[in-house]
Amino acid sequence: MKTVLAAAIALAVGGNAAPAPQITESPLAGPEPPVRSSVFDGPTAHGAFSGEATTTGALSKPALAPSIAPLPPLPVTYTNNNGELQAPVMPVPYQPAGGIGTNGTEPYYHPLSDFDYESFVVALYQEWIELDLFHDGLAKFSEQDFTDAGLTAEDRSLIEFMANQEVGHATLLSNILGPAAPPQCTYNYPYTTVREFLDFCQKLTRFGESGVYGFLGHLDSQAAATLLLQSISTEARQQMIFRQFDGLHPMPVWFEVGIPQSWAWTLLAPYISSCPANTTRVAWQNFPALTVLNQPNPAKLNPNLGPDQAATGSNPLNATTRSPLADAPRYAMFVSQLNATYVPLVNITESGASAVQPNMSTFAGDPAVNGTIFISITSQNPYLTPYNLSMINPFVYAGPALYQAG
Ligand SMILES: *[C@@H]1O[C@H](CO)[C@@H](O)[C@H](O)[C@H]1NC(C)=O
Ligand SMILES: *[C@@H]1O[C@H](CO)[C@@H](O)[C@H](O)[C@H]1NC(C)=O
Ligand SMILES: *[C@@H]1O[C@H](CO)[C@@H](O)[C@H](O)[C@H]1NC(C)=O
Ligand SMILES: *[C@@H]1O[C@H](CO)[C@@H](O)[C@H](O)[C@H]1NC(C)=O
Ligand SMILES: *[C@@H]1O[C@H](CO)[C@@H](O)[C@H](O)[C@H]1NC(C)=O
Ligand SMILES: *[C@@H]1O[C@H](CO)[C@@H](O)[C@H](O)[C@H]1NC(C)=O
Ligand SMILES: *[C@@H]1O[C@H](CO)[C@@H](O)[C@H](O)[C@H]1NC(C)=O
Ligand SMILES: *[C@@H]1O[C@H](CO)[C@@H](O)[C@H](O)[C@H]1NC(C)=O
Repeated sequence: MKTVLAAAIALAVGGNAAPAPQITESPLAGPEPPVRSSVFDGPTAHGAFSGEATTTGALSKPALAPSIAPLPPLPVTYTNNNGELQAPVMPVPYQPAGGIGTNGTEPYYHPLSDFDYESFVVALYQEWIELDLFHDGLAKFSEQDFTDAGLTAEDRSLIEFMANQEVGHATLLSNILGPAAPPQCTYNYPYTTVREFLDFCQKLTRFGESGVYGFLGHLDSQAAATLLLQSISTEARQQMIFRQFDGLHPMPVWFEVGIPQSWAWTLLAPYISSCPANTTRVAWQNFPALTVLNQPNPAKLNPNLGPDQAATGSNPLNATTRSPLADAPRYAMFVSQLNATYVPLVNITESGASAVQPNMSTFAGDPAVNGTIFISITSQNPYLTPYNLSMINPFVYAGPALYQAG
């Protein structure tokens, strides 16, 4: 790999340059950035938690209703069927009318609601674990272990670089949140080999990425959303790299799936064993866990060979956070690409059930079920599309589980 360190950059422009903009002091004061020492202090502690927790459970306030009632769409104030500019004027030459934050308003790169704040909180918990995880794999396994798994010195150096990217992501999100941004925690990882480490990395980055896509378009602060997208696009590249290290096709789908914050938190929380006292808590739901018993195993030559077991299994009976609307397990909800599809559960037992993987497509025969699918057990089957997916939350009985069909 060659890097150009210093080079003269010659630029030629056709017309007269615009006058230099006048830079003035910002009148908008955001929250203070947090004081962080853990970022550069090396790995945090690892392993299971022993002791007595000072705080558990989600942050909460009284709820107005058990579920969100559907509403009709807002009036549509714009249509364009002829490709012409529809407004009579433009704000400036070459800038079509409209857009959010395009009229000179100074950007405010911080949360503008509890929804924004809590979305960034769960995203920051995710960035912190990634920062620790990528370092942990490099520290835990020897050069020989990586070589035996088919990875070179350059591959290890790329993992190290990805860990450093997480320093940037965690700093950005901490600064967006301000003084109460959560710090790094203690983590408990399930891998014991390099192959398992790589597979865990591609799974963890997968739900981190999908968790952000689920809320990005709903944020009140579009300015903060822009910065988050710029970091999550890097995370999406990390996910593809870990998939390839894992021997998988990097992106066997046409669209990347988005999931609600509570789904991402449910998938992330089991790997956090504890956090320092007074760590800012999360308001999202941690649903009862769901396990796919016959998850394809990427470490096998034929991922379909393995013990013959039920399609999905869960242990949902001891759930205490569950909504009263999630009264019984009835459907397996497959969330993939652009689609949410419900399959009736069969062979329901005390701790599990089965469902047949649906055969459906996004467009032009592209199989929707490929790559990563998120499966939840639900009590109802409302019709949902990517932008109103979180309306399922009160009906989630267990899950999601991450299922990788390809
Ligand atoms: C979700 O949005 C779709 C349109 O994209 C709509 O048809 C559906 O009714 C909505 N679901 C609910 C529960 O409101
Ligand atoms: C500029 O646009 C924002 C929304 O993007 C709006 O809230 C604000 O009122 C606009 N300001 C002016 C002066 O039109
Ligand atoms: C998933 O995508 C890969 C890559 O395009 C393809 O080889 C495989 O057949 C697909 N699987 C299914 C079930 O469509
Ligand atoms: C946690 O917060 C409480 C109340 O602000 C404070 O008294 C206590 O010292 C804090 N504990 C730690 C470990 O920071
Ligand atoms: C639920 O929890 C109780 C107490 O911990 C335990 O005895 C029981 O086996 C659990 N039930 C299931 C289905 O896991
Ligand atoms: C449900 O159980 C029956 C009887 O054991 C079995 O034949 C069937 O394949 C099961 N269904 C699924 C979807 O696993
Ligand atoms: C899935 O559906 C497609 C299109 O209807 C069909 O060609 C294909 O055979 C189906 N695959 C399976 C496994 O049923
Ligand atoms: C999946 O979503 C795409 C895009 O909205 C739509 O064209 C397709 O019909 C959906 N498929 C199913 C089975 O719902």
